[in-house]
Amino acid sequence: MKLEDVRKVGILGGGVMGGGIAQILAVSGMPVIVRDINDELIDATREAVFESKWGLKRAVEIGKLSFDDARAAIELIAFTTEIEDLADCDVIIEAIPEKLELKQTVMAELDGILKPEAIIASNTSGFVIADIARDVSDSRKALFAGMHFSNPVPRMRMCEIVYTPESSEETIDTIRGLAEQTDRVISMVKDAPETYGFLLNRIFAAAKREADGIVAAGIATEEDVDKAMVSGRNWPAGFYGSRGGIGKQW
Ligand SMILES: NC(=O)c1ccc[n+]([C@@H]2O[C@H](COP(=O)([O-])OP(=O)(O)OC[C@H]3O[C@@H](n4cnc5c(N)ncnc54)[C@H](O)[C@@H]3O)[C@@H](O)[C@H]2O)c1
Repeated sequence: MKLEDVRKVGILGGGVMGGGIAQILAVSGMPVIVRDINDELIDATREAVFESKWGLKRAVEIGKLSFDDARAAIELIAFTTEIEDLADCDVIIEAIPEKLELKQTVMAELDGILKPEAIIASNTSGFVIADIARDVSDSRKALFAGMHFSNPVPRMRMCEIVYTPESSEETIDTIRGLAEQTDRVISMVKDAPETYGFLLNRIFAAAKREADGIVAAGIATEEDVDKAMVSGRNWPAGFYGSRGGIGKQW
């Protein structure tokens, strides 16, 4: 599947990440359909995309997006509770909860529904991509990769593109192009067996371990660590104060 052939992207899982990913794709002009498991979750995702701090309405209010562009984006986002409604998508971005078994099961189900040439990219925070793809058909493994966005997606431009030994070059070029169309900054990462966290989260975890050690040794308080990282490195938040994370918004 080449980038110019991608006409519609399916997002599996609304929530914190799925809504944000749908939003940036729609703003880039790409039709998207978001699938979640019930109407309440769909309503919450719709509300986040349209009305939240990082949503389209606020983007217009602060001058980041024109009213017409926001309206056009809204028209490009569809929602569904039926997984079969993803059947005609050219690319799927998976953003369901960070549970390996759940992802493996749902990926196998999706594999049977999608057309043979459709790409699947997982937004896992760090599972080995080949492990998530374990139960899909051999032919789909060439069309499987990682696409790790950062929260809040409309604000954070990072996208780690994670390639497995089986990911085809065309698959990687297509998802890279798709991410670039949404104004992401790409870091290429090799899928590494028996690791967790790709690049961003491994480095963050190492820094957090050091911070915890400093606090445990009584060298500085949590608050002083956070203040130093925010004022000395321009981090938007430290390790211990209010922060986002899986299932959480900033
Ligand atoms: N939140 C973050 O900071 C962050 C950042 C980067 C990556 N991630 C990763 O993104 C993924 C999603 O995280 P999140 O924070 O958005 O979680 P979330 O809980 O906000 O959203 C997940 C959504 O998936 C839905 N879901 C569950 N099973 C489903 C299925 N079979 N089909 C469709 N939808 C289903 C849930 O109902 C929920 O709405 C995880 O893998 C997480 O590790 C999260």
